[in-house]
Amino acid sequence: MKKILFKRKPIVCLTAYNKFTAQIADEFCDLILVGDSLGMAYYGFSTTRAVSLDDIIRHAKSVKLGIKKSIMVVDMPFGTYTTKKSALKNAKKIVQLTKCDAVKLEGGKEKSEIIKYLIKNKINVMGHVGLLPQKIKSNKDYKIKGRNLRERKKLVDDIKHLEQAGVFSIVLEATSFDAAEDVLKHSKVPIIGIGASVNCDGQVLVTEDLLGFFDKVPKFVKKYTNLKKQIIKAIGNYAKDVRSRKFPTKQNIYN
Ligand code: KIV
Repeated sequence: MKKILFKRKPIVCLTAYNKFTAQIADEFCDLILVGDSLGMAYYGFSTTRAVSLDDIIRHAKSVKLGIKKSIMVVDMPFGTYTTKKSALKNAKKIVQLTKCDAVKLEGGKEKSEIIKYLIKNKINVMGHVGLLPQKIKSNKDYKIKGRNLRERKKLVDDIKHLEQAGVFSIVLEATSFDAAEDVLKHSKVPIIGIGASVNCDGQVLVTEDLLGFFDKVPKFVKKYTNLKKQIIKAIGNYAKDVRSRKFPTKQNIYN
């Protein structure tokens, strides 16, 4: 695969699950992630674990149709990279069927041999450390990482292992600011933050979160609009118009 290089400006990343969102994001982003947040933000499941390989491939094929210039990264779903052999088989399937530029895997040191193996086999890999959504089975598992020395040391150690394995970039999710700064001091590849530090080499958010689809979002989300409110208003107006026979009007029917 072609090597992925970034320019030095902060890297703008967003998620997309279909062509139409990708088309809009592509204008503004450097990297578009077909994240397995799909399971929660699109399908409404309680964790990302319900996303299958076929689910992510189907959505990634759609996203690919909307991308002209951004780097496209596809998440490897839970359970699809437990061994070197299964990881390579599944990563190859994702790359071949979706024509993405890279895959993303969750985990640090413990996944570094698998990641090295994928890269040796010409698959570009993005790492993901800090809070790992695929480890979350219930709400009580959401915990900010790096609040004590042991966790901070582990984050830096994980980053080093991923770099040595050859990742082109790493997502750092939901860490204390100090831990993120520590990671940034020690990292050689671009660190893409989500709830980490404003000084990261780039930032990523789930697009539906920033658009305001949901009432409850993590602290690291900034809602740039409130689409939920706008959708409620629009659908409410449509229902009123249908019930009062104001819709369709002459403009909406055929002669
Ligand atoms: O699945 C996802 O969307 C992600 C981002 C939140 C980084 O992994």
